[in-house]
Amino acid sequence: MTVTLAPHTAPDHHGRTSRPRRYLMCPPEHFAVEYAINPWMDPARPVDAARAMRQWDALRRTYLDLGHAVEVIPAEPGLPDMVFAANGGLVVDGTAYSARFAHPQRAAEGPAYLGWLRAAGLRGVEAEHVNEGEGDLLVVGDLVLAGTGFRTAVAAHDEVRALFGRPVVTLELVDPHYYHLDTALAVLDDTTVAYLPEAFSAASRETLRELFPDAILAKARDAAVLGLNAVSDGRHVVLAAQATGFAARLRERGFVPVGVDVSELMKAGGGAKCCTLELRV
Ligand code: ARG
Repeated sequence: MTVTLAPHTAPDHHGRTSRPRRYLMCPPEHFAVEYAINPWMDPARPVDAARAMRQWDALRRTYLDLGHAVEVIPAEPGLPDMVFAANGGLVVDGTAYSARFAHPQRAAEGPAYLGWLRAAGLRGVEAEHVNEGEGDLLVVGDLVLAGTGFRTAVAAHDEVRALFGRPVVTLELVDPHYYHLDTALAVLDDTTVAYLPEAFSAASRETLRELFPDAILAKARDAAVLGLNAVSDGRHVVLAAQATGFAARLRERGFVPVGVDVSELMKAGGGAKCCTLELRV
C-alpha cells in the first residue's frame, strides 16, 4: 500500500509534556472468561473477580493521580468483556462512532456504550460496519491508524474517514495473539508510536516504517505481557509493569513509564489500554 502522508517525526527531546485527558472506564463487575474469542482466553482457567476489581480500581486511581478525569459506565450483567471500554467506540471532536462487534457474545456492548456516550452529550453515530472502537482505531495527531485482519472490517475504516474527515491508514494484523491494533501498537504522543513489527503484514510494516521512522520497535517479550496495550498522556505511559524492556526504551526517549498490574484482566486478552476509552470532546 502506498501512503502519501508525510513521515511523522519529532525532535527527540527529554521535556515531554502531558495533556489532561478524559477517560471512560467500566468496572469488571461481571468480568469472567466464559467463552474464547482470542487465544488468551481459556474458560477452564479460573478468574479471581475480586482481584480483577482491585487491579481495575488501581488503574482508575493511577489516571486520577496523573490528573486525568475518569468517567464510569455501569457494567451490564451477561457482558463479561464490557470492562474493555476501549472497544466501546471511537470519540473524536465530540462525535462518538459506535462499536459493532465481530462476535455475537459482545454485540450488546455496542448499544450499551452508544447509549452512555449519547447521554453524556456526545453526538452518537451508529456504525454500519464491523468495528471494535479504539481497540482497532487509534488516533495519532490528525491521523487514525486502523487495524483489520481479525475484528474490524476495512469498510469501517472508510466509514471513519468519511465521518471524521481525517486520513485513515489501514494496517493489517497477522498474529491472532495481537487481534486488536491496540495490542500491537501504542500511541505515545501526536507523532510517536511503538509497535511490534511481526504483528503486521509485510505491507503494513512498510507503511509504519514510512510514517513513523522514529518509532520504538517493541520486542516480542514485552508484547507478550500486553505491554503495548498502553495509555499515554504525552509524557506518562501507563502500561503492564511486567513490560520492563519497553519501559526502559520509553525512559530513554523521555517518557515516564507508570507500571500497573492488570494480570487478572489479561486472562481475557486485555490490558490497561483495553480498559480505557478516551473521550475527545
Ligand atoms: N476478551 C476481549 C475480546 O477478545 C478482550 C478485548 C480487549 N480489548 C482491546 N481493546 N484490545 O474481545
